[in-house]
Amino acid sequence: MLILGISGSPRKENKSGVNKLVNTVLESTGLDYEMVSLRKKNIAGCIACLGCVKDNVCKVEDDLQPIREKIVAADAYVIGAPNYYSTLNAATHAFLERWFQFRHQEGDLLWGKLGVAVGVGGTTGQFPADDIEQFFLYNFIETVAKVSGQGAASCYSCGHGETCKVGIPHFLHGEGVKISEEIIPDVTKQPEVMQAAVEAGKKLGERLRDGHDRAQVTQKMQAIMMEKFEGAV
Ligand SMILES: Cc1cc2nc3c(=O)[nH]c(=O)nc-3n(C[C@H](O)[C@H](O)[C@H](O)COP(=O)(O)O)c2cc1C
Repeated sequence: MLILGISGSPRKENKSGVNKLVNTVLESTGLDYEMVSLRKKNIAGCIACLGCVKDNVCKVEDDLQPIREKIVAADAYVIGAPNYYSTLNAATHAFLERWFQFRHQEGDLLWGKLGVAVGVGGTTGQFPADDIEQFFLYNFIETVAKVSGQGAASCYSCGHGETCKVGIPHFLHGEGVKISEEIIPDVTKQPEVMQAAVEAGKKLGERLRDGHDRAQVTQKMQAIMMEKFEGAV
């Protein structure tokens, strides 16, 4: 039983809210896991070359290649992304786009697996968590839990956060804001968020230990997908 954790934040591991939450979820499963950070990885978006159509193996040569086997081998995923412009950041989007390689000719390598979606934003992490859930759905992966928290926007450390009228500190704390450690958001200072991450990990661990039925999960997710497209054309 293996869980693959992915942090899509480009920030250093100890500065990233996404990294902290994904790790908390993983540790709380009580199962074996491997954590992969996309930081400093060179992973491009899908280029629609269709090189993967025959064998479901992407032919683009970059840092996704060594992660491909881990994606295939994992029974579940804990994927986290930062909120950039109210959606998930480009690095995580590019990483997930490349899962296109698994879907040809009813490729079922990922079908029926389980996932936890994690998002962190300067205001909210809800958007990237929802986006990851959507990517999971396209691969017939069930999202067993979503976790979102508030992280530190770069405006707290850019040097102009106290005076800039369009910065997050100004928006969140008003004019004349004084930046101190106490007001800088950090997911570890949000007990309800950390608790949600622990609960998400426990839930994922329980589902995996129960020996979840991949065929049943696949059927459920396919039905949701069909419903989504019903009446779309
Ligand atoms: C390019 C960029 C765009 C951002 N856009 C948003 C945004 O639209 N909404 C928001 O809440 N936070 C936004 N943020 C703030 C990040 O979501 C925040 O810093 C978060 O803590 C990042 O997660 P991390 O700490 O794991 O890197 C943005 C940050 C960057 C660098």
